[in-house]
Amino acid sequence: MTTDTLASPTEFWNQSAASKVFSHPLDIARFERTVPRDAAILDYGCGRGRLCGELVAHGYRRVEGADFSSEMIAAAVREHPTVSFTLVDGAALPYDGASFDAVLLFAVLTCIPPRDAQRALVAELRRVLKRGGLLLVSDYPLQTDARNIARYDAFSREAHESEPWDYGTFRLPDGGTVRHHEMPWFDELFAAFTVEHRVERDATTMNGNPARIVQWWLRA
Ligand SMILES: C[S@@+](CC[C@H](N)C(=O)[O-])C[C@H]1O[C@@H](n2cnc3c(N)ncnc32)[C@H](O)[C@@H]1O
Repeated sequence: MTTDTLASPTEFWNQSAASKVFSHPLDIARFERTVPRDAAILDYGCGRGRLCGELVAHGYRRVEGADFSSEMIAAAVREHPTVSFTLVDGAALPYDGASFDAVLLFAVLTCIPPRDAQRALVAELRRVLKRGGLLLVSDYPLQTDARNIARYDAFSREAHESEPWDYGTFRLPDGGTVRHHEMPWFDELFAAFTVEHRVERDATTMNGNPARIVQWWLRA
């Protein structure tokens, strides 16, 4: 089987809107020290608006969520009626350049396995960030446990004729294709930014499994 036979990414995320639990933690104390309350903030790949809700609860007034899943956006609007949410197409963002002081990208790169697509997204997020603005990324490096290594290896053994892929890409049991990343790739992807802070921590995946994550505080 190749990735071509799978449901589209938006279908997968629409189907996941009611069931998956997202929990990559935001270091709100550091965020409050770093980002003023009147900052314009974009949460890209906002899902059901979990982080937008957390920011609003901490007094941030100009918070915008964007996602390419209509079901996620519908749930976000229901759960956080005071926040502005926008359905995007996953390509060019509907915002002017230098519109935001901070952008959050939590557990979204993992959903976008190809290098070129990740590069295009990060370039687009840089475009909409003000100069000196903050890009806060939370995502998965390669994991070292047997279950994940078996998934990476299984994907490696399949035929992939249609698109380039990286080790660490794998299929979820319910149909999505996601990626965990070699650390040097992150360094390459974020090369246009200045790394202000980087931390590794324990987290839980959307299917309830323990995982290591890495979080970057990057300056445009
Ligand atoms: C694992 S969930 C994380 C949701 C949220 N960031 C959180 O941490 O609560 C990933 C989200 O990214 C969205 N997503 C995946 N690829 C995307 C793309 N190319 N453009 C916009 N949203 C995308 C999915 O629809 C989903 O809502």
